[in-house]
Amino acid sequence: MRLYKNKSDIQGFITHLKDKKRVIGFVPTMGALHAGHISLIQAARQQSDFTVCSIFVNPTQFNDPGDLQKYPRTIEKDLYLLELHGCDAVFYPGVEEIYPPNAGPAPHYNLGRLESILEGAYRPGHFQGVADVVSRLFYTIRPDKVFFGQKDLQQCRVIERLMADNPDFERIRMQMVPTLREPGGLAMSSRNTRLSAEELRKAPAIYQTLLYLKEHLAPGDLAPLQEAAKIRLIREGFRPDYVSIVDTSTLEACPSWNGQTPLTGLIAAYLGEVRLIDNMELV
Ligand code: PAJ
Repeated sequence: MRLYKNKSDIQGFITHLKDKKRVIGFVPTMGALHAGHISLIQAARQQSDFTVCSIFVNPTQFNDPGDLQKYPRTIEKDLYLLELHGCDAVFYPGVEEIYPPNAGPAPHYNLGRLESILEGAYRPGHFQGVADVVSRLFYTIRPDKVFFGQKDLQQCRVIERLMADNPDFERIRMQMVPTLREPGGLAMSSRNTRLSAEELRKAPAIYQTLLYLKEHLAPGDLAPLQEAAKIRLIREGFRPDYVSIVDTSTLEACPSWNGQTPLTGLIAAYLGEVRLIDNMELV
């Protein structure tokens, strides 16, 4: 497995792959890799000739400086896992490689309503940071296919929008990979390592609550169902930011359901100090 820390080095190698007409699959990550990330690597390997993974804890997408500081960093283990699972190259840049000190302010990305709903409402600036770093990574890696997890559904919608708005990214194909879960249903996440044993025992309640939404969904007013689900979480010791049933394609709230529109349930909730997110297609 090749390891690159400099943009110019990996770009040189990418040019060589492009000359040979290799299909490049790209999996951007912030490291602290788990089986969920590895499922993206596996999807990339199946659908491309050459798989690149980036590991970069992007400071501009952390609205909470404490969260950035506490973000787990396990580079040795990450490289071991990537090698073990057949990743071909890793891009592991320092902050100044991605954000050169004299490069001027980041552009503003027009993300429409995605920026102000759900995660956007609770994490101001987060999706601008995601759009900016992903755009920089796409320019560096020039992938043919990119792989993102459904675990971060709103992030997937942001990337789709970024690609639709920029002709340079027009030919990139994106694949959304299903959420990988622990046996009890907890969505795998780098942040799970910060949960205590007691919190880990409680954490599957988020998944149970999504199942509860799915089981009880019926046409008409959806407010009582969302409220009941929120109360369930609070009883289990969570502090929910939101429990929302939305239109799967736009992620706009759906106050009343016509029995037809595809819907997704999304939850963001604190368990102790750790903020967890998850979602499930309901219909
Ligand atoms: P990170 O949280 O490291 O996630 C990297 C990718 O792994 C994302 O596409 C995420 O949705 C996916 N992923 C995380 N948990 C998963 C699970 N349980 N099952 C399947 N896929 C899962 O998302 C980011 O990093 C960053 O925002 C990034 C896109 C790298 C930009 O900085």
